[in-house]
Amino acid sequence: MGNVLTIRGGVPLNGKVSVRGAKNLVPKAMVASLLGNTPSVLRNVPEIKDVEVVTSLLRLHGVEVTKDPVTGDLTMDPSAAKMAQSKDIDAHAGDSRIPILFCGPLMHSIGEAFIPDLGGCKIGDRPIDYHLQVLRNFGAVVDKRPGGISISAPKGLHGAKLSLPYPSVGATEQVLLTAIRAEGITELSGAAVEPEIMDLIAVLQKMGAIITVQTDRVIRIEGVRELTGYNHKAISDRNETASWASAALVTQGDIYVEGARQLDLTAFLNTYRKVGGAFDVDDDGIRFYHPGGPLKPLVLETDVHPGFMTDWQQPLVVALTQASGVSIVHETVYENRFGFTEALIRMGANIQVHRECLGSVPCRFGQRNFLHSAVISGPTQLRGADIDIPDLRGGFSHLIAALAAEGTSRVTGIELINRGYERFQDKLEGLGADFDITEEAPVFAAGLL
Ligand code: EPU
Repeated sequence: MGNVLTIRGGVPLNGKVSVRGAKNLVPKAMVASLLGNTPSVLRNVPEIKDVEVVTSLLRLHGVEVTKDPVTGDLTMDPSAAKMAQSKDIDAHAGDSRIPILFCGPLMHSIGEAFIPDLGGCKIGDRPIDYHLQVLRNFGAVVDKRPGGISISAPKGLHGAKLSLPYPSVGATEQVLLTAIRAEGITELSGAAVEPEIMDLIAVLQKMGAIITVQTDRVIRIEGVRELTGYNHKAISDRNETASWASAALVTQGDIYVEGARQLDLTAFLNTYRKVGGAFDVDDDGIRFYHPGGPLKPLVLETDVHPGFMTDWQQPLVVALTQASGVSIVHETVYENRFGFTEALIRMGANIQVHRECLGSVPCRFGQRNFLHSAVISGPTQLRGADIDIPDLRGGFSHLIAALAAEGTSRVTGIELINRGYERFQDKLEGLGADFDITEEAPVFAAGLL
């Protein structure tokens, strides 16, 4: 049983929000603490579900995690790291995808790892074949068991020449976290180079790693025997920033995002400007606002960095329902990331999804059965509806659609939003949104009363 958010739409969001450390960096930097021989300190840590999950997993593995009550900084001491029970790992992993990144650090610190079957947002199949392949290349023995995989390195881990078929963020992180203490040199081609990966590399360099990022997605890692702890301030969450930016556009509002970093958002800011949004950058953040007048339609393709990130797509699609004309969005990172449009259509949006690649570059999902291109015609007046949130970014998009809609929406499944948006209800309140939260009434099956 969860909470229900009742949103009365039509109120522009105005004010300021603060964005802290990136959901797609912080949990990984926490995992990296396992590799050090002294405690690590991570600053700018947001209060989100994924951080709670990794905290529990680290504690299960004997890492002492303490949180500063004032700043929220985390201190992680791995000196008593130990093997955890697979059933406990399973119980604490929640629906996070982070456990897969424990493989390398656990093999280095305690010689073996058990990784439960993974969760994460339901936005595609989300396989882990690249992860398992690179681990095998490092010399690990991967054993599929019921409920997860067991992995060990009886002969130790050694550097390898690796190539990813697609620049996967997670698989690149897997390589980094495993190679830095493997014997010898690792060369990874086809690597992802997202800013969160560069920040993880900064963390690892502070710990004593030797990592070179070369041109053309090549990363070279020289293994070292020992690493120390780190002290690091996490990069700010550019996906949360982009979400609030779209919220400003959709609700015709004006939101200053404290902590937003222009350099990590170049592709987003270009698109925001093209669609008719306005922004002002200063040293502490970015102000995003609707400058008045109609929004413009556009043709857009999601891509790996430095392209337009897939995580920015869903909130922007809501803005495109308000643009005058036909927009086309081709999703090339995940095969199934348009499920959230079903609720938007019920709210009055005019969106068709297609199996064809409607973009300049055919992607991995073309000519297959994936609805991965969307055609959005606008502007359309959105109306309030009952919505059950499907995933993190799709869910945030539903929230901002409801905030802009005429009438009242009843939103369930909001706990999913806590996975990646820190205190989003407080932030919405601070921006003047008109909503309240009640506990969902229990549903009793007929005949059981
Ligand atoms: N892929 C494979 N095999 C693998 C790994 C990935 O085929 O072994 C495919 C995926 O199915 C997908 C593509 O490669 O089609 C890219 O996946 P990637 O590995 O890059 O994604 P990830 O590491 O699982 C992270 C973020 C996602 C973000 C993507 C892309 C975390 C915890 N998650 O996922 O964030 O969309 O990178 O940038 O860092 C979100 O924040 O809402 C979110 C989903």
